[in-house]
Amino acid sequence: MDKKPAVIVIASSSGGTGKTTFAVNVAAVNASEGKKTALIDADTAFGDAALMLNLDPVITMKEAAERNDTTDIRSYCLLHESGIRVLAAPVRPEYAELVKPGFVTEAVQALGTHADTIIVDTAAGLTELNLALFEAADRIMIVTAPGLARAKNTKLLIETLEALHLKDKLTLVYTEQKKTAFIQAKEAKEISGGAAVCPVPDAARALAVSMETGVPLVRTQPKGRYAKAVAKAASHREETPVKPRRKWKWKEERQHEFIRETAVKESES
Ligand SMILES: Nc1ncnc2c1ncn2[C@@H]1O[C@H](COP(=O)(O)OP(=O)(O)OP(=O)(O)O)[C@@H](O)[C@H]1O
Ligand SMILES: [Mg+2]
Repeated sequence: MDKKPAVIVIASSSGGTGKTTFAVNVAAVNASEGKKTALIDADTAFGDAALMLNLDPVITMKEAAERNDTTDIRSYCLLHESGIRVLAAPVRPEYAELVKPGFVTEAVQALGTHADTIIVDTAAGLTELNLALFEAADRIMIVTAPGLARAKNTKLLIETLEALHLKDKLTLVYTEQKKTAFIQAKEAKEISGGAAVCPVPDAARALAVSMETGVPLVRTQPKGRYAKAVAKAASHREETPVKPRRKWKWKEERQHEFIRETAVKESES
């Protein structure tokens, strides 16, 4: 294959924001468009992409890492009925240390010879592995969810990516909330620092069913709001990028100094 595959890394500052759900659905959208799609579960300690797809992780990246085998990386993948090839995370957290960042980035590259799109799910935070994956990515999709602390930490993560000159690759994905205070479109745009912003609807009940059955929601309800939002985000037809307002207003007095003086300055030093 001549064409370089698109590598999309899905990450977040805090846990439980919907990364894996989103990653699995983005992969399913790509597969349904006829693209050869690989999903790498780089949440090496607690990854659950295989579980979400109802796949038995009989073989995982741990076995590949133990043999340091990336040449035949496809043979370590599980095949989902949608056509997605899943390089599953190790089945136990203690195996995570066997999977070094360099191995995962090599696996991304090796799978690239067989795929049009590679979706990489990650564990929350700025780990050494995540930083290596951010470098390897064509796009970094940061997923955030309602909550003031999550908003603060998402902003810190975005500022860190900016300091690392990675912000051009960034899309911010946030769960739409109709009633609660945070995060809504305005705040998402403010913390995005001008990056593209993609909302996904709150679909808790339908996603719970999807989790039970192991069939991504975009496959069971391809015309639903969630599927449309994921497809839009996956194809990068995001909302028009916005210029950040000079001042972001929420809790600014409490948090502005803290954010500036921790993440960015530390990452520059
Ligand atoms: N758009 C959404 N609307 C409502 N609930 C959602 C949405 N996306 C994900 N969820 C729910 O949020 C919970 C966490 O989702 P998920 O496991 O995908 O998050 P995660 O970021 O991968 O978590 P972790 O950091 O632990 O890996 C799940 O119960 C999931 O069904
Ligand atoms: Mg996850």
